Amino acid sequence: MLKTQDLGYWYQDKTQPLFQGINLTFESGKSYAILGHSGTGKTTFLSLIAGLDKPKEGDILLGDQSLKQIGLTNYRRHDVAIVFQAYNLFAYMSPMNNLLTAMAITEAKHAGDRAYAKQILNDLGIGDDLIDRNVQHLSGGQQQRVAIARTMCCDARLVVADEPTGNLDEDNTKAVIDQFQRIAHEQNKCVIIVTHEPDVAAQCDHQYRLENKQFTELA
Ligand SMILES: Nc1ncnc2c1ncn2[C@@H]1O[C@H](COP(=O)(O)OP(=O)(O)O)[C@@H](O)[C@H]1O
Ligand SMILES: [Mg+2]
Repeated sequence: MLKTQDLGYWYQDKTQPLFQGINLTFESGKSYAILGHSGTGKTTFLSLIAGLDKPKEGDILLGDQSLKQIGLTNYRRHDVAIVFQAYNLFAYMSPMNNLLTAMAITEAKHAGDRAYAKQILNDLGIGDDLIDRNVQHLSGGQQQRVAIARTMCCDARLVVADEPTGNLDEDNTKAVIDQFQRIAHEQNKCVIIVTHEPDVAAQCDHQYRLENKQFTELA
């Protein structure tokens, strides 16, 4: 469903690209991990996939349409959901209002459906006692589960996450990765996770390593 075509990117120096000539395909219903050392360009790659920045070379296609044709604003609103390391929730809002706001902004089919939002939050272990609390009073693990719930309640078929378990302990890490697997397998979405933790990557359906400007699939 998502495809990169001869994708390349550099910041200042064209002769020192972070990656170049990248041809990858990401399918619905699958999860993908992108591994690599710090500074190799994983976040940069994700920002291109998420429509936050434009390729310097090549193209990214959703189905058979270039993101340029779709328009990055339109793409970000309807096609992609992003989970950051630092949760990036709507501050001062409750978990419930985070989900309702996201569904409203993205014009999701369940927009306004509190029962649907509550079900998703409850499924992720955000109980009724937490649903209406200010998210800033939740633990890191709880906040990250709300961030994941927010991607689940919206219709975007592509879910990307940058080091989503970077701030979490072992138990929360496992819970979060299990949820990403459910998003891929039960919601039939395409999940792409950047991580530097091999244990996290090993739980995804496919693993790529970004090294020496290239992506290599690990067996
Ligand atoms: N806005 C920017 N301007 C210039 N260089 C940048 C910018 N953002 C990141 N870089 C550099 O690009 C390289 C890749 O960064 P990044 O994509 O964040 O790597 P990773 O996520 O793999 O750690 C790093 O050397 C970083 O310093
Ligand atoms: Mg990074």
